[in-house]
Amino acid sequence: MTSNSLNIKNCVEKDVLEWFLDNGIDEAVSTSPVDKTAVGKPPISNVTIDNVKQQSQAATPAPAQVQPAVSAEDMAAEPLMGTAQALIEAKQRAADAKTLEELRATIQSFEGLAVKKTAMNMVFCDGNPDADIMVIGEAPGADEDRQGKPFVGASGQLLDVVFSRIGLSRTAEDAKNGLYISNILNWRPPGNRTPTPDEMRIAQPFIERHIQLAQPKILVLVGNTPMKSILNTKEGIKKMRGQWHNYETVTAELPKLDQKIIAMPTFHPAFLLRNPGEKKTVWQDMIMIQEKRKDLGLL
Ligand code: URA
Repeated sequence: MTSNSLNIKNCVEKDVLEWFLDNGIDEAVSTSPVDKTAVGKPPISNVTIDNVKQQSQAATPAPAQVQPAVSAEDMAAEPLMGTAQALIEAKQRAADAKTLEELRATIQSFEGLAVKKTAMNMVFCDGNPDADIMVIGEAPGADEDRQGKPFVGASGQLLDVVFSRIGLSRTAEDAKNGLYISNILNWRPPGNRTPTPDEMRIAQPFIERHIQLAQPKILVLVGNTPMKSILNTKEGIKKMRGQWHNYETVTAELPKLDQKIIAMPTFHPAFLLRNPGEKKTVWQDMIMIQEKRKDLGLL
């Protein structure tokens, strides 16, 4: 190979790798591709990079027997759901869930969010469901997707440190000092992009039912996305943080709340990692949460 063709090869490989990263492919988990859109179909396990290479190098290659991952019959039997239909089904499923376990199961089997097809695991919750405080983030990232738990990556570690300063922890055995953690969206969006407005609308009945079933006294909404969705507002986090807001269920199909829940929006830990100077602002929010716990007799 000439040095010129080597350079071209390196450039092409770099472009391909960048394209992978832009599309959320940031980890090699296997040498053979798995099409997660092939719902219910086992992966074609005998196809590897090596035997694809061997096939393409064979002197008289047989025409490749390409199996479509989703057959025409499957597509006809399981049409992709439009947003309106997905929203109706999400509301119905959320309203029907009577326990957290039922809610987890119904989200797991819900086919109305395309992000489910690209994610590895559903991320439902972590911590103590009896805790007085429920933390709601945006959506799982790569670490959360791998482990099936919210806030386990770098921003999750900072979140744990922030709450530990006021004596709260997701691993605390007593509910008083516990935290319960979830996200607006239960599936990782490819490339860690922000959930789209449609995804947020479809996920909203589920997170609202999640709040109703967990019955926290205080919600802590970390970042713009959960704040906008849960408080049904177009205001930004900078204006809304540092103040208490009354939470009302937005999804009309769900039962009304039978207890008062208040919400404190604060900055997302990923924002703090990029802007460490804002840690003092979040510390002010934590002090307000601590004072409210005292006022409500939760300490
Ligand atoms: N960011 C979130 O909003 N949620 C997570 O679970 C992880 C990172």
